[in-house]
Amino acid sequence: GGYTQVYEGGLTFATVRGAGHQQHFQAEDTDILLCSGPKSGTTWLKAILFAVMNRGRYASGESPLLTSGPHDLIPFMEFDLYMHNESPDLEHLPPPRIFSTHLPYASLASSIEESNCKIVYICRNPLDQLISHWHFVSKLRRANVDPLPFEQVFEYFCSGKHNFGPFWDHVLGYWKASLENPNKVLFLKYEDLKEDITFHLKRLAEFLGCPFSMEEENQGFIDEISKLCSFENLKNLDINKTGRRLDMIPNSMYFRKGEVGDWANYLTASMAERLEKLMEEKFSGSGLTFKLSCKPSP
Ligand code: A3P
Repeated sequence: GGYTQVYEGGLTFATVRGAGHQQHFQAEDTDILLCSGPKSGTTWLKAILFAVMNRGRYASGESPLLTSGPHDLIPFMEFDLYMHNESPDLEHLPPPRIFSTHLPYASLASSIEESNCKIVYICRNPLDQLISHWHFVSKLRRANVDPLPFEQVFEYFCSGKHNFGPFWDHVLGYWKASLENPNKVLFLKYEDLKEDITFHLKRLAEFLGCPFSMEEENQGFIDEISKLCSFENLKNLDINKTGRRLDMIPNSMYFRKGEVGDWANYLTASMAERLEKLMEEKFSGSGLTFKLSCKPSP
C-alpha cells in the first residue's frame, strides 16, 4: 500500500517523517537548508549548492560530485538523518553545514526560524511536478502491485493529497516566508534556473554571503559549475547511472528528462485546464506565477 499512502497519507506522512527533526534539530547561524517539494529540482540544487560552496576547493576534474550522488553529499533531514536516529551527531560537521528537507515551512524545527541560518527553496510548475512525481513513485513501487491509474493520481493532486501536504500550501508557505524575510529565504523556480543558470548561480552565491569575485568570474567558475551540474553531465556520470541512495533507491531515478513542459505529453487538455484554473485560484493575490513551457528557441 506504500503507493497510495504516498498520496493519501499526506500531511501525516510529513508529520511522522519530520518529528525527529522538529524536536531535536538545532540550527546554527551558518547552516544552509535546501527546502523543496519532491520532484522540484532538489537533486539539481543539491549539486549546485555543493559546487558553489566548495568552489576553489577541488582541482577541476576532482569534484566529489563526479564520484558521489548529490543526495550522498547533502542529506535529507527526514530520510537520512532523523528517520532511524533521534539525535544524529551533526555538531561536528564543519560549517557551513548543508541539509535538505521536503517538509513544509510551517513544519520546520523552531530553531531554524530562531537562528540566522539561510533557507533556499526550489519549486516547479505543478503540471511538471505532478508528472515527474508520478513517474518517480511508479518506479519506486514494487513490481508485483498494480499501478495506480494516472487519473487517480491526478485527482489526489487536485484535492491536495500529496506526501508532504498540498502542493499549493507547500509553495505558498515558503513564498510568503521569502517575502517577509528575503535575507533568510531565497525562493527559486526550476523554470527560471533552466532559463538563466548563470544569473541564478550569482544570485544564489550573493544570497549565501559568498558572491563570485571578479577573479572567479574571469577564471570561468560560473560556467564550470553550471556545466558540472547540468542534467546531461550528472545523468551520465557512472555514480548516477549505477549508484544507489541509502543503498536502496537507484540514483538514476533522480534523472529522468529534466525539461520544462513535459506535462504536455501526458495531461489531456481538460486536465491541464483544470490545473491552470487551480493555480489561478490558489495563487491569486500572492503575486506567484509559473511558466508552463520554455521559451521557444530563437
Ligand atoms: P523529470 O522527472 O521531469 O525529468 P528532484 O531532484 O526534486 O527529485 O526532482 C527530479 C526532477 O529534476 C526530475 O524531473 C529530474 O529529471 C530533474 N533533474 C535532475 N537533475 C537535474 C539537473 N541537473 N538539471 C535539470 N533537471 C534535473
